[in-house]
Amino acid sequence: MNKIVVGITGASGSIYAKRLVEELLKKNIYTHIICTDTGKKVMKYETGIDLEQWVAELSKQYSQLRLEDINNLFAGIASGSNKFDAVVILPCSMGTLAEISNGLAKNLLCRVADVALKENRRLVIVPRETPFNAIHLENMLKLSRLGVTILPAMPGFYHMPETMEDLIDFVVGKILDNLSIENILFKKWGN
Ligand SMILES: Cc1cc2nc3c(=O)[nH]c(=O)nc-3n(C[C@H](O)[C@H](O)[C@H](O)COP(=O)(O)O)c2cc1C
Repeated sequence: MNKIVVGITGASGSIYAKRLVEELLKKNIYTHIICTDTGKKVMKYETGIDLEQWVAELSKQYSQLRLEDINNLFAGIASGSNKFDAVVILPCSMGTLAEISNGLAKNLLCRVADVALKENRRLVIVPRETPFNAIHLENMLKLSRLGVTILPAMPGFYHMPETMEDLIDFVVGKILDNLSIENILFKKWGN
C-alpha cells in the first residue's frame, strides 16, 4: 500500500480515524484525509480535537499527509487516473453509507468511494450506528456484494482489553490486517 484515503464522517468514533492515520504515517504511507463538515464537529465534540490543527501538527513530522477539501471535486484523488490504493471510511455514518451505496458522488469523499468501486480498488467501510435498520443493512449488503469490506467498529473482548486504547487498537488493527498492512496493534488469536 502506497497511498490511502481516510474518510471521516459525522458518525461517532473519529478517535479510530486518528489512530489509523497515525499508524499509516508511521508506515510511510501517503495519507489523504477527507472529513465531512459534521465529521469535524463530532470529532471536536467527542475528542476536543480540531481537525485542521491536528493535521497541521502531524504535518510538521510527516510530509506524506494531506488534508483534502470535501467540496473540492477538482482534487487529484477525484479521478480514477490518480492511483490511490484504498479508501477507508471510519467512522462511516449511515448518511454517507446511503450516498455511496446509491452511487451519489456529490462531495469528494463519496466521489473517491465511487472511484474505488469503478476501478475495483479496496474500499473499507467502518459503519457506526446501533441498532441498524433495514435500510442500513440493505445498503451494507449492496456494497458488500460489490466487494466492499464492511468492517463495523465492533471491538472484540477475547484479547482481554484493559483500556480504551486497547479497544481502539483492536478495530484499527483489524483494518490494517484487512489491507494486508503488518501490525501488532492487538494480540492475534493463537499467537
Ligand atoms: C454527537 C453525534 C454523534 C453521531 N453519531 C452517529 C453515528 O454513530 N452514526 C450515524 O450514522 N450518525 C451519527 N450522527 C448523525 C450524523 O452526524 C448525521 O447523520 C450527519 O448528517 C452525517 O453526515 P456526514 O455523513 O456527511 O458526516 C451523530 C451526530 C452527532 C451530533
